[in-house]
Amino acid sequence: MSVLRFAIAESNCLRLLEEQVNITVIGAGYVGLITAAGLAETGHRVICVDDDLGKIQLLNAGGMPFYEPGLENLVKRSRAAKRLEFIARIEDALAQGEVIFICVGTPPLENGEADLSSVELVARRISACARGYHLVIEKSTVPVQTGRRLQKHFSIYGDNSQAHYDIASNPEFLREGSGVEDFFHPDRIVVGVDSEKAAALLEEVYKPVLEQNFLCPIHENCGKRPHVPFVVTDINSAELIKHASNSFLSMKISFINMIADLCEAVGADAGKVAEAIGMDSRIGGSFLRPGIGFGGSCFPKDLQAFVRVGQSAGCDFTLLREVERINQRRIDLFVAKVRNELWVVRGKRIGVWGLAFKPRTDDVRSAPALAIIRRLAAEGAQVRAYDPHAMEKAKAQIPEIEYCADAYAAAEGADAVLALTEWDEFLRLDLKKVRQIMARPLIFDGRNMFSCAAMAEHGFEYVDIGSASEARKQVLGR
Ligand code: UGA
Repeated sequence: MSVLRFAIAESNCLRLLEEQVNITVIGAGYVGLITAAGLAETGHRVICVDDDLGKIQLLNAGGMPFYEPGLENLVKRSRAAKRLEFIARIEDALAQGEVIFICVGTPPLENGEADLSSVELVARRISACARGYHLVIEKSTVPVQTGRRLQKHFSIYGDNSQAHYDIASNPEFLREGSGVEDFFHPDRIVVGVDSEKAAALLEEVYKPVLEQNFLCPIHENCGKRPHVPFVVTDINSAELIKHASNSFLSMKISFINMIADLCEAVGADAGKVAEAIGMDSRIGGSFLRPGIGFGGSCFPKDLQAFVRVGQSAGCDFTLLREVERINQRRIDLFVAKVRNELWVVRGKRIGVWGLAFKPRTDDVRSAPALAIIRRLAAEGAQVRAYDPHAMEKAKAQIPEIEYCADAYAAAEGADAVLALTEWDEFLRLDLKKVRQIMARPLIFDGRNMFSCAAMAEHGFEYVDIGSASEARKQVLGR
């Protein structure tokens, strides 16, 4: 079957070759690599450039710099078909890439603003070596008006008789863990442009995805899906759409977390509340899962950056500051629950299931799990952790705790287990066995991934987020 799929995929791409665009993707990080591999899969010829020679060598040797389901296969196939290449020198890529995607990091500065020095450096390099026409597209998450600044940069340093440019914004909405799926089946593609030529070129680049006209590399029976909306705006609006989307999603999470706290206090069930309010199509059911809060490399950073944008524009973004504050308090509240049940934390053996900021990724940046572990370890707990994919990255940040070979080993002899990332494999654990090997069968579920009834049936003391049983415990004085 896979051979047949491959053959069909090849012929599919051949059909698309007529419309092949030469593309340079600058930055082989999470966004850059998925964008490069995805565009190559749909038939374009893509060169992906990164300054990090070690990363380029790793990719050229068939390795992956991070874990992302489906990405390795995608890269492998496009490299074999000679549609995807990894190089370290931007000058070599620009000779053939008419379309340039900037996908470099924009980490937070100390004041919360996005650090745009990598974007500026890339712009300088482009203007130093480009010839002919280039469409320069910012895909990195940047504050509104970055496009304007890029335009100014190129008009000062880059526009000459040998090179001329269009600037565009094309925000990405990829979620880690399902980035490949999000690339091929997005809810929308947003492009911010100020010329018809730029819009037309971007439409060409995304044509197979917009028309859902490719052999889906991830779903065996994908079927014909409806066309993807192509939203064309001015550059400022496109930049703003990205920050506003992430801020809105963060706001939903903090909202439901606030409701979860109320549910615990008054004796209601946050799961049911979320389910029912989410049934209102104006609200929608997603991103209403209460828990230990949002983490990752996007929401916390984008929220802060957007607050700074509002501030410098003279707009009152107190709402978003509150979203951030509620999220930070999730860690305090969870640690307080653990402390409350364990009485004395010092010397207690605590098993941890899950380190990544969410399942299906090895990313531990701003992971709530790490914040919780740091706090409990500082209070003298003996923490023993397990995660299916994120242990190496967690070890680099918290080397002092013990890392275990599997979830059972982490639970063995534990006075409590904290479930902090909702990996599927934890749902398949033999709870009877877990119950037997723990010193005290106490589970804190920071993601509400287990059923309260199943836990009670197996004889666990079970503490989740926002359920009525939490209120009952308080009433009973436990
Ligand atoms: C997020 C956005 O969802 C993407 O659209 C965007 O492209 C990306 O940021 C980015 O800016 O690059 P991501 O950070 O990968 O994607 O992860 P999400 O799935 O959005 O989850 C973020 C955090 O919120 C996780 O820690 C997750 O556990 C938490 N979360 C999510 C909740 O606590 N409750 C929910 O109901 C949903």
